[in-house]
Amino acid sequence: MMKAMQLTAPELTAFRQAALPDPSPGKGEVVLRLRAATLNYLDVAIATGQFPAPGFPLVPVADGAGEIAALGEGVGGWSVGERVLPHFMPNWQGGAITPHNVAAMRGLTLPGSLAEYVAVPASSLAALPAHLDFVQGAALPIAATTAWNAVRSARLKPGSVAVLLGTGGVSIFALQFAKACGATAILASSSEAKLDRARQAGADLLINYRATPAWDEEVLKLTGGRGADLVLETVGAATFARSLHAAAMGGTVFTVGFVAGTVAQVDLLPIIVKALRVVGNNTGSVADLAEAVRAIAAHRIVPVIDRVFDIGDTAAAYAELSAGGRHFGKLAIVH
Ligand SMILES: NC(=O)c1ccc[n+]([C@@H]2O[C@H](COP(=O)([O-])OP(=O)(O)OC[C@H]3O[C@@H](n4cnc5c(N)ncnc54)[C@H](OP(=O)(O)O)[C@@H]3O)[C@@H](O)[C@H]2O)c1
Repeated sequence: MMKAMQLTAPELTAFRQAALPDPSPGKGEVVLRLRAATLNYLDVAIATGQFPAPGFPLVPVADGAGEIAALGEGVGGWSVGERVLPHFMPNWQGGAITPHNVAAMRGLTLPGSLAEYVAVPASSLAALPAHLDFVQGAALPIAATTAWNAVRSARLKPGSVAVLLGTGGVSIFALQFAKACGATAILASSSEAKLDRARQAGADLLINYRATPAWDEEVLKLTGGRGADLVLETVGAATFARSLHAAAMGGTVFTVGFVAGTVAQVDLLPIIVKALRVVGNNTGSVADLAEAVRAIAAHRIVPVIDRVFDIGDTAAAYAELSAGGRHFGKLAIVH
């Protein structure tokens, strides 16, 4: 039997330690010895019922990293002991989003990362870059893939302007990718301490959105009235209208987040007049993760981990993320 943590109900404190049967690899699968997990807002949304789960108990946490412990029949190209990342939506190998591609999600419909072992399709793996440890690697599948898709969608290049909202996992990866593209990064956050950390992480221009609630006007001022080529919408209803206003003509408002609501009243005129690209995104494919990992390896990007919790403190890690505004980058859990 293996040790695991289960979420027993859609409640932020409903965690219990459990002994579960050791998984064995099916055809085309590998068994991973998981070493670390990191939280995404999605995990909190599942644990509060905001994102409905098909059933409880479940082994939570979508993202993780580990090493290959066993190979199933027909698995080629991987060997026991290799350090790997299992993608969060293993059905989605590449190409366009389809209902089948997003039907299976780790930590929701499939076992997540708070267990000693898990069986996953070998086709859902990416290799962990050599310069990263397991905790840093566990930060990649959802947040880095999403940030990568944002910078690619907006076709950032030297001289482009990217606006990043807040200092959560997705925003900080997008900051690192935007700088790797040679873009100017404008980051808005709630505190001076976080803005200082964002500057150290490479942000060029900083806005305190508590002191300057009209951060969209500030973006226009900072860009000589032109606006941003990319606004990465990680927040949701509370900021969406300002994101449309902050975008340049032909710019991309890459819409991923719902930490501040999902229902917004929107003036269509900025979208029409500025011919904006309002692009939705649902994480991405294994191929997108692999591309993000290649960029991270090439630019030796190091994921920003704010705190590491022991698996026994899982409820505290969830509480920290759900409090919002306290963490910077990613929160991790090790076991
Ligand atoms: N659709 C997709 O492809 C996809 C993929 C990944 C994540 N997501 C979603 O994207 C969102 C962000 O994910 P995450 O994991 O990065 O979350 P996170 O780590 O919890 O970060 C959220 C951050 O949002 C910032 N924030 C909150 N209210 C704000 C406001 N009014 N203005 C500006 N910033 C604000 C805060 O930053 P400060 O403390 O610095 O102010 C907070 O730390 C979540 O809703 C998540 O579910 C979607």
